[in-house]
Amino acid sequence: MHLPNYKEAKKREKVEYQTLDYNLKKELKNKYCGKKYFLKTYGCQMNEHDSENIKAMLEELGFIEENDYRQADLLLLNTCSIRENAHNKAFGMLGRIQNLKEKNRNIVVGLCGCMAQEEGVVEKIQKKYKWLNFVIGTHNLYQLPQVVDSAITNRNQEIEVYSHNLDIVENAPVIRDKSYKAYVNIIYGCNKFCTYCIVPYTRGSERSRRKEDILKEIADLINDGYQEVTLLGQNVNAYGKDLYEDYGLGELLEDIAKMNIPRIRFVTSHPWDFTDKMIEKIGKYENIMPSIHLPVQSGSNTILKRMGRRYTKESYLELFDKLKNIRKEMAISTDIIVGFPGESEEDFQETLDLVEYCQYDNAFTFIYSPRENTPAANLSDDVSLNEKEKRLYRLNEMVNQYFLKNNKNQIGQVQKVLVEGKSLKNNNMYFGYTESNKLVNFTGANVEVGTIIEVKITDAKTWSLDGELYER
Ligand code: SAH
Ligand code: SF4
Ligand code: F3S
Repeated sequence: MHLPNYKEAKKREKVEYQTLDYNLKKELKNKYCGKKYFLKTYGCQMNEHDSENIKAMLEELGFIEENDYRQADLLLLNTCSIRENAHNKAFGMLGRIQNLKEKNRNIVVGLCGCMAQEEGVVEKIQKKYKWLNFVIGTHNLYQLPQVVDSAITNRNQEIEVYSHNLDIVENAPVIRDKSYKAYVNIIYGCNKFCTYCIVPYTRGSERSRRKEDILKEIADLINDGYQEVTLLGQNVNAYGKDLYEDYGLGELLEDIAKMNIPRIRFVTSHPWDFTDKMIEKIGKYENIMPSIHLPVQSGSNTILKRMGRRYTKESYLELFDKLKNIRKEMAISTDIIVGFPGESEEDFQETLDLVEYCQYDNAFTFIYSPRENTPAANLSDDVSLNEKEKRLYRLNEMVNQYFLKNNKNQIGQVQKVLVEGKSLKNNNMYFGYTESNKLVNFTGANVEVGTIIEVKITDAKTWSLDGELYER
């Protein structure tokens, strides 16, 4: 048994890690042939991508996927810790699973992802969820086959969570959700320690993948016909710092752009280390998509300082303007937290002013949620929840207005769209995303999923565009 330990998780010494190849013990292959698994994923793209590995690891053991949790033999929750409601959702699901487990002792239930790295969560599981068969952390996810096997065999509660970074594992099996666009991890962990955020504790130190491993993965995706890659990391701008003297995200973007994959995206960029080199490369290659997620969090310098964000409103806006000037179609999206401890009405007004200036194409807005063990959780907070909810409402009213305005600007334009499928609302329509990452529902005949086609934009809504297939 290994338990999570925040003191360990906080350490940022020069990390020593190796890159290993994934290796499944022969005797485990197909051992659980025909058994069914249910996997539920919460949280960010990183978790979604981990789930693509989880599926493949389980299927190598012989499990097949089951979408109804009541019919599965193995149930696994890939959890998120970012806000209290992510916790609540996972515990709510555990409650439903508990009813099932009372009727059928044979099902095996596990929890992985960021909540597994939290001391408090694991303590609660040990006390109140003794029936839960296993917990496996984010650093040793590739040990899932062994942990599942021993949980099934031993019937004890297995807790395998490490608080320091283990090795980077290459060539883990993967079953990708889509056959035309793919996530590619480039850096794990986060060293920024924004005072409100739990991620540096749940995902560990920044560790970059070797550039040759990334380029090889992308070459294979291109061979398989993929049209788009999204490079993933909690802070992709830190790519390479731990491995190379003079090879960072700018150079990596250039090497990937030269491979001629039609679309390259990357999330998330911390404004603090967005270099001019990166900006230059984004401007140089048309297959680097004109859509950048640049979380601002707040428009008040007092709050930014207390959040430990390492930039000011002024330096953020300077960067924002530079990015906007790269290409006229550049779309910028953001994340904003309202109600950070001590946020005054004036501080909040500064956020609204910044939004008015930036007129974002998309924004994810949240009420601050205190997280276990983070410095901000100890700050005194005199703003009521009711006031925070009001601020969130005011902010959303404003951001929505700009989404609509930006979308309306697209009417009449012809946009390149990567087709994703039949529209969810109307079976006679298709949907896909433009280069600047806007959702379009459009009419057309003989459209093939996974191809890039041209669509004429005919109408705009707050969160999507309407259009028709454009044939020259
Ligand atoms: N690495 C990314 C953010 C990942 S978390 C970055 O730094 O940009 C995604 C978003 O969740 C953050 O940008 C922030 O807006 C929000 N978030 C993180 N911790 C939060 C908390 N404790 N309460 C509310 N929102 C939070
Ligand atoms: Fe969290 Fe800040 Fe790291 Fe983003 S950069 S994951 S907000 S600590
Ligand atoms: Fe959530 Fe962990 Fe991602 S906390 S947002 S799943 S890195």
